[in-house]
Amino acid sequence: MAEVTPLIRDELLPPRGPGRRHLISIRDLTKEDVERLLALARTFSASLDREVKKLPALKGRTVVNMFFESSTRTSSSFELAAKRLSADVMSIKASGSAVDKGESLRDTALTIGAYDPDVIVLRHPHIGAPQVIADATTAHVVNAGDGTHQHPTQALLDLYTIDEELGGIAGLHVAIVGDVLHSRVARSDIQALVLMGARVTVVGPPPLIPRGIEAMGCEVSHDIETIRDADVVYVLRMQKERMLEGANYVPSLREYTARWGVTPERLRPGQKVMHPGPMNRGVEIDPVVADAADALIERQVRSGLVVRMAVLYDLLTHGPVEVKVAEIEEVA
Ligand code: NCD
Repeated sequence: MAEVTPLIRDELLPPRGPGRRHLISIRDLTKEDVERLLALARTFSASLDREVKKLPALKGRTVVNMFFESSTRTSSSFELAAKRLSADVMSIKASGSAVDKGESLRDTALTIGAYDPDVIVLRHPHIGAPQVIADATTAHVVNAGDGTHQHPTQALLDLYTIDEELGGIAGLHVAIVGDVLHSRVARSDIQALVLMGARVTVVGPPPLIPRGIEAMGCEVSHDIETIRDADVVYVLRMQKERMLEGANYVPSLREYTARWGVTPERLRPGQKVMHPGPMNRGVEIDPVVADAADALIERQVRSGLVVRMAVLYDLLTHGPVEVKVAEIEEVA
């Protein structure tokens, strides 16, 4: 069988032979992998402006979305991405599934695996859950968020958005502000931005910044004024559902907003503002900032679609393939 360029070089993954690749962590991507995926996403973006948006690229393939945590953006964009590529798509949510009846993740995986899906996209509250799916099935696994660990496609769509908007990533300064401690987006974004040559500063109150995070290649600031230096201010949600009960990360949300909220006064004209959503308007981000022309929040959602199309396509077509949308016959 032909050599396959692995998308993922995660030594934790059992050797499965060529052809079965996963996207579990940004850590496992090289700069070339990221560049290839962003280029593919750019190619797919041409299909968004067409009257008929569907491409036959993954016709006959099956993509299963398993979402065991709340999601609007990520689940809808994976579903639409797979549909736009003509794959058969099945979406399973924890509530209303056998998970409600106490079924283990492995047993759910074995059940779904019996249909021989080509790709399983998983969102799960537990770190490492994508590996359970990878071990129990023969599908390619895409991590759509596992606990506080990783959310690699969010990082890729953020890179894509920055690249499109600012004409490159290397040399930019990105400030990531807020609840870094509970954020899988922050972890994936720091790794992805550093990999692509950006400078990253995480900004927030000490209890919300993980100790030792500098080891990921970023700087740390506990002064909100630092965000004024950045080209891009990336605002994180206060992730209350992930905070330990009884722990006082901040005295109160009102206090948090007063000291760390991203307001027009704390920004410089021309700075781009991003947020992975869902936003808590009036908490971590002022509504005026969220709705301003320099906010890229809706752009991020649009990027999510083409980036996820690229990831699905890349996993299933084994790496670097040049695709020209114009050359792919449209499917009515
Ligand atoms: C993020 C997530 O779920 O990790 N949201 C998303 O995927 N759009 C960020 C968050 O929940 O705050």
